[in-house]
Amino acid sequence: MVDRSSKAGNAALRGTAAPRRVHIKSYGCQMNVHDAERMADLLAGEGYAEVDAPDEADLVILNTCHIREKAAEKVYSELGRLSAMKRAGRPDMRIAVAGCVAQAEGAEIIRRQRDVDIVVGPQSYHRLPALLAASRAGKAIDTEFPEEDKFAHLPAPDRRRLATRGPTAFLTVQEGCDKFCAFCVVPFTRGAEMSRPVAALRDEARAMAAAGIREITLIGQNVNAYHGDDGQGGAAGLARLIAELAEIDGLDRLRYATSHPRDMDAALIAAHRDNPKLMPYLHLPVQSGSDRILKAMNRRHDRDFYRRIIDETRAARPDIALSSDFIVGFPGETEADFEDTMALVREIGFASAFSFKYSPRPGTKSAEGPDDVPEAEKSARLAALQALLAQQQGAFNRATLGRVVEVLFEKPGRHPGQVAGKSPYLQAVHVEVGPEAVPDHLGRILPVEITALASNSLHGRIAGPGLGRIGGKAA
Ligand code: SAH
Ligand code: SF4
Ligand code: F3S
Repeated sequence: MVDRSSKAGNAALRGTAAPRRVHIKSYGCQMNVHDAERMADLLAGEGYAEVDAPDEADLVILNTCHIREKAAEKVYSELGRLSAMKRAGRPDMRIAVAGCVAQAEGAEIIRRQRDVDIVVGPQSYHRLPALLAASRAGKAIDTEFPEEDKFAHLPAPDRRRLATRGPTAFLTVQEGCDKFCAFCVVPFTRGAEMSRPVAALRDEARAMAAAGIREITLIGQNVNAYHGDDGQGGAAGLARLIAELAEIDGLDRLRYATSHPRDMDAALIAAHRDNPKLMPYLHLPVQSGSDRILKAMNRRHDRDFYRRIIDETRAARPDIALSSDFIVGFPGETEADFEDTMALVREIGFASAFSFKYSPRPGTKSAEGPDDVPEAEKSARLAALQALLAQQQGAFNRATLGRVVEVLFEKPGRHPGQVAGKSPYLQAVHVEVGPEAVPDHLGRILPVEITALASNSLHGRIAGPGLGRIGGKAA
């Protein structure tokens, strides 16, 4: 049923003259956001223009997330709406399910929703053209973990398309996870860890800088486990990759996400001290502050190990903004365990964080036992934790009031005459510059004095000429 010859796919699509339109809706993490961009790039080569709404599209792709039950169930309600649309007079509209639900559930998706035409996993979406062609004859499913590297089969992001997405970009350096935390589906949906070679990443980053990208976030499910071929018969760690990419002219900022505490090695910590292009921000999920729960989660680190990594990173870069992920209500979590989490949060102080109620996921270790923390208890713990984290985020933001921070301006703000960008600490910053001056600010890094705090962002005014370059050229 699945036609894997992309040549056949290309020919079939190119044979049709009418312009085609694709709508891609992404759920989940930044890996998915980036995959959606790569799918759009791939389909652009097949004659598809991207549109904002499904009702104008010939092809709708749901790029799905399986991490919690709610995320996965959202997909079926969305598919219900698309199916109704298809039956109400759009019989030619193709519906594709990509991403982690596609990987986890495969053909089951089509059993639950007959109007789905294509199911494609996160490691096989480079085969979309062939799957599209195959879907004319019947349902097309591809959820393999193929031998070939999909990046070698995807078109390099082109200059013009990159430029339309602003001066920041994601670069996938690593995929998959071998850690098998007891609660997590990622090792099943994204497969085993693999790292891309340094040379390929250097080329891609150079092309990005030449297209005007000034900030790259290196992404991977376990990005600091990166160990890519260094071209000399060895493997380079993330710190070495960062050092290589920092050499690229025009590229001024580097970030990475998401990290595991166990893979924060000395070289990566030192990079936060030594490499001025590496931004002072670290997202390092801890999940819980209780050693008992960390063990049950199979996190392979305890509270003291996490503290030590944080202390060393703060010694290397005292102003670093710290971020984390937390799960409350993991099976067996008592009030005392939860208090350990609260105590750890109080002790460390986070600039931002994500926190979730535990959700049992099919196939994971912890789903084999009972989900025994009552829902009301989970909600109460989540509310308490989120209140504390919000307080800490407010304190972190308040500490930047009156300071001058360098802001990379990414896009026009919500109000006319406003530009929006990010501080080195990943805070959203808005500045009024007047409608005429907005385009001139985009892609620049300028010093901004922070003058006010809003609920989700900071406001400021330009405080000097700064690094006024666009795309590596002096302006
Ligand atoms: N690779 C990253 C994050 C993966 S998923 C890491 O190792 O931290 C992002 C976050 O979702 C996790 O950090 C965790 O906090 C949360 N999460 C994962 N599985 C979950 C589950 N079953 N229930 C609730 N939250 C979960
Ligand atoms: Fe999931 Fe753990 Fe792997 Fe992160 S390290 S992706 S939480 S299994
Ligand atoms: Fe979700 Fe898959 Fe990302 S499960 S969080 S989209 S890796």
